[in-house]
Amino acid sequence: MPTISIVYYSGGGHTAVFAEAVAEGAKSVSGTSVNLLRIDGKDIVEGRFKNDAFLATLNASDAIIFGSPTYMGGPSGQFKTFADATGGIWYQQQWKDKLAAGFTVSAGTSGDKLNTLEYFFILSQQHGMVWIGTGVLPYATGQINRYSFSSGAAGQANQEPVTEKPDAEDKATGAHLGRRVAEAAVRWAK
Ligand SMILES: Cc1cc2nc3c(=O)[nH]c(=O)nc-3n(C[C@H](O)[C@H](O)[C@H](O)COP(=O)(O)O)c2cc1C
Repeated sequence: MPTISIVYYSGGGHTAVFAEAVAEGAKSVSGTSVNLLRIDGKDIVEGRFKNDAFLATLNASDAIIFGSPTYMGGPSGQFKTFADATGGIWYQQQWKDKLAAGFTVSAGTSGDKLNTLEYFFILSQQHGMVWIGTGVLPYATGQINRYSFSSGAAGQANQEPVTEKPDAEDKATGAHLGRRVAEAAVRWAK
């Protein structure tokens, strides 16, 4: 049974809503196991990511989906601190040939989201992973991918009020990516 792990940071909860939609999409594919791993401030001690259980779960996964809000035109510092902690894994190429994908949420409709998705892509390539994009034309399959990103899934939510979350269309975009990665993981495991 292929395992898909979604590892993400969310400061205000907006990206968390999107991550849950990605997980729902992945779970909709039968024969898969899905982990939703939220990077927490408590995982970072004296500037370093210290959650070894997290890393062990990722090492045992067939696919890893990276997620972060776009902060100041890139992934959040907390996500980057997590990524920096994967250096030992990189050195041993333990994630080589795992599947990878990414998603981001930001306040702007563009908001420099592409830079965050590109960072996830570069991270995956350092690890020797196999990248999966959205694989869908804008609005080609129902009301998804309205921001026309091919490299990863994108959502929009303002910082305030905190009650504002990615809407149904964004959640459908996230679910699409999760489903696509899970379907690929089933094929990849054959
Ligand atoms: C420190 C900080 C920097 C931000 N930088 C950007 C940015 O560069 N582009 C953008 O569109 N939104 C930016 N935003 C808005 C957030 O991306 C947006 O509100 C997102 O929904 C927050 O997700 P979260 O609740 O999961 O943290 C920024 C917000 C914060 C707090």
